[in-house]
Amino acid sequence: MSSSKPVALITGASSGIGAVYANRLAERGYDLVLVARRVDRLHAISEKLTRQHGVEIRTLKADLTVENDLVSLEDLLRSDERIALLVNNAGNGKLSSTVDMCDVDANATLALNIVAPTRLARAVLPGFVKRNTGAIINIGSVMAFCTLPITTLYSATKSYLLTFSQGLKAELAETGVRVQAVLPAGTATEFYDHAGIPLSAFDQAAIMTTENLVDAALVGFDQGEDVTLPSVHDAGLWLAYENARSTLFGATQTGVPAPRYKRT
Ligand SMILES: NC(=O)c1ccc[n+]([C@@H]2O[C@H](COP(=O)([O-])OP(=O)(O)OC[C@H]3O[C@@H](n4cnc5c(N)ncnc54)[C@H](OP(=O)(O)O)[C@@H]3O)[C@@H](O)[C@H]2O)c1
Repeated sequence: MSSSKPVALITGASSGIGAVYANRLAERGYDLVLVARRVDRLHAISEKLTRQHGVEIRTLKADLTVENDLVSLEDLLRSDERIALLVNNAGNGKLSSTVDMCDVDANATLALNIVAPTRLARAVLPGFVKRNTGAIINIGSVMAFCTLPITTLYSATKSYLLTFSQGLKAELAETGVRVQAVLPAGTATEFYDHAGIPLSAFDQAAIMTTENLVDAALVGFDQGEDVTLPSVHDAGLWLAYENARSTLFGATQTGVPAPRYKRT
C-alpha cells in the first residue's frame, strides 16, 4: 500500500456488519485491510469500494482460529505504522447448549470471539501507545448481559469482550488511544445461518439492518462513547447498569461475611 491515508483493518469483512464497516470507513477516507476466509467475497467488496471511493484495499485470507494466520496478522499489526484503526468484528456463535455443542464449534467460538480479538488488540496497541493515537472497535453483543440456555458460550465470550474493552479503556485513559465496544442486538446478517437458527425465527421488529447498526455505531464512536448500544433508546439504562455494577463492587469490600452467611 502506497498512499499516506490511515489504514483500518477489519476482521470478518466478507459479509454482514464487517462489510458495512468496510464501506463506511472507505467513505471516511481510510485505506483498508479486509480479513476473512472467503477471499472471493473480499475481492468483490474491494473492487467495488476501490472504484467508488478511490481508496487502497488489501485483502487477506485468514482463518482467525488458525495459529499461523493469527500470527501473520499480529505481525502486520505490529509492523504497519499506518494502521490507525482495528475493527475486531469477526465472530460466531453456534446456538446450542454447552453440553450438546460439539468440540469443534465450542473451540471455534472461544478462539474467534476471545483469543483472536485479544491477540490482535495486544499486537496493535504498543504501536498505538507509542504514537499516542489509534482506535480499536470491538464488536460485542447485547448477549454480553443476557444468557439463554442456548447462548451460554456465545454470551460468555461477549461478556469477556465487553470487560476486555472496558479494561483497555481504563488502561489507556491517559493516552490518545480509543477503545469502543459496540453491542448490537439482533442484526440482519448471515450470522444466524451459521448459528443454526434462521433469522426468520426471530421477531422481525427487533432486527436492525446492518447499515443502521454500523451508522449508529460510528456516530457513537464520533461522540467518544466507550460502549455503544445502537438499539437502546434510553441511554440512561446503560448508566444505571454501570452505576449498579460499581455500587455492587463497592459493597464487596467489607472484609467480613454478610450476616445471611452466618454459620448456624
Ligand atoms: N447479527 C447479529 O444479530 C449480531 C448481534 C450481535 C453481535 N453480532 C456480532 O457481529 C459480528 C459480525 O457478525 P455478523 O452478524 O456480521 O455475521 P456474519 O455476516 O456471519 O459475519 C461474520 C464475519 O466473520 C467472519 N468469520 C467467521 N469465522 C471466521 C474465522 N474463523 N476466521 C476469520 N473470519 C471469520 C466471516 O467471514 P468468512 O466466513 O469469510 O471467514 C464474516 O465476515 C460478530 O462478532 C457477531 O458476534 C452480530
